[in-house]
Amino acid sequence: MREEELFLTAILNCSRSELYTRPVELTPDQKEMLERMKWRRAAGEPIQYIVGFTEFMGHRIEVGEGVLVPRPETEVMADVTIRALKERGQSEYFILDVGTGSGCLPISCVKGLPNCRAVAVDLSDKALAFARRNAELNGVADRIEFIERDVFWFMDATLHRFDAVISNPPYIPSFLLPTLPADVQKEPMLALDGGPDGLHFYRFLIPSAKKVLKKGGILALEFGDGQRKELEKLFWGVGGWDKIHIHKDNAGKNRVVTAIKI
Ligand SMILES: C[S@@+](CC[C@H](N)C(=O)[O-])C[C@H]1O[C@@H](n2cnc3c(N)ncnc32)[C@H](O)[C@@H]1O
Repeated sequence: MREEELFLTAILNCSRSELYTRPVELTPDQKEMLERMKWRRAAGEPIQYIVGFTEFMGHRIEVGEGVLVPRPETEVMADVTIRALKERGQSEYFILDVGTGSGCLPISCVKGLPNCRAVAVDLSDKALAFARRNAELNGVADRIEFIERDVFWFMDATLHRFDAVISNPPYIPSFLLPTLPADVQKEPMLALDGGPDGLHFYRFLIPSAKKVLKKGGILALEFGDGQRKELEKLFWGVGGWDKIHIHKDNAGKNRVVTAIKI
């Protein structure tokens, strides 16, 4: 959809095809709204912040300042997790999402698996406010517990044991942050900054996930371009992991690594 079409569908609360099948007559207020949207876009705001939502796995996810906009490539994580758990045929599942942001991953997982509950952790209160609202809008608030914590603290403290730990952690090397497109720089740095080499969270999550997973549990991590080899080395170096497998996104890029706790 072109940007103007997206703005108009948001203002008129209609589909793209409806824009062309009925006459579009904007009220003065709506015209002003459209101008404001175009102005915000010209100032570099992500288009999804301006319209206030995006779609993830076919679910409506509200976003705005302070939360990362879910990316289409992250759908691979949800898809891989749902399929892997479904294959097990258990009567119930319990998953942990680390760095939940908008809540797109646990919402998709519990909607895809009716017998699944989730714990979702994030350090950002702004992100969690969106996540809680999104869980309510998607009718799954009673199946996801949102917790505001630093994951570096949470993993040691929790007494829960999970069937899957999933995470799309911040993975952009700090020195690359100033080179990101203007609209990406409007998203929270807390969601993007993966430390000097982008691997800060993986060095912590690969060993610590073992403590909170049940035996045979799945760890699924999204990662960025060029990080595959280092991640595989980390898994083998830490040990205690089996069936380390790389999954590609729809663009054919290596995007998600899964491993099973021995
Ligand atoms: C790349 S975003 C992923 C958001 C969402 N899961 C998604 O895929 O769209 C990473 C998230 O990790 C959170 N985060 C960063 N550092 C954290 C920490 N130390 N503890 C908990 N969450 C953290 C950020 O606030 C952000 O929401």
